[in-house]
Amino acid sequence: MKVLLTGASGIIGSVILKQCLQRPEITSVITLTRRPLPSTSPKCENIVVRDFKHWDSGLLDDIADADAMIWAMGTSGGNEEPNLNYPLAFQQAFLPTQKSPGKRFRFIQLWRTRRARSEPQSLVPQQRAEDQGPCGNQVCGVCGTA
Ligand SMILES: NC(=O)c1ccc[n+]([C@@H]2O[C@H](COP(=O)([O-])OP(=O)(O)OC[C@H]3O[C@@H](n4cnc5c(N)ncnc54)[C@H](OP(=O)(O)O)[C@@H]3O)[C@@H](O)[C@H]2O)c1
Repeated sequence: MKVLLTGASGIIGSVILKQCLQRPEITSVITLTRRPLPSTSPKCENIVVRDFKHWDSGLLDDIADADAMIWAMGTSGGNEEPNLNYPLAFQQAFLPTQKSPGKRFRFIQLWRTRRARSEPQSLVPQQRAEDQGPCGNQVCGVCGTA
């Protein structure tokens, strides 16, 4: 399984990277960062992305065979560029590269949900619509699902 990962230089992303590298079913991890990331494993390749809003076709060709994207880029303050505009731009550029019938590509975005203090904080999207991350509805629109 080939996994794409953004935010690998961050607190959450660096832990996800370690976990991915330890799992035998994940055969390859491509980290997409704005600054070069030192290599930690032969299983891991780093690609520096100059502009997360404009994904060039050469880069898309290199990552089109990936099985999943883990989007751990973002700020806890919910900065619109890394939390919303960049992941949407990725999805819009990446979707047309997925031409094999039946192939499933999983997109997971880390998002800190805001809940009442009595409720546990969550790192992953839950069932509630407001927990699906900043681009939950837009993602559905891009993918053409309800
Ligand atoms: N930390 C938590 O306890 C926690 C809990 C739940 C959810 N989350 C969510 O998880 C996500 C990551 O949190 P974190 O704590 O790991 O944050 P972090 O340590 O500040 O890391 C943020 C990551 O995003 C990248 N990034 C931020 N702005 C960017 C931009 N404009 N362009 C390109 N890359 C950018 C950073 O790259 P650079 O290294 O190049 O700056 C870094 O890799 C956030 O959305 C946050 O809300 C965090």
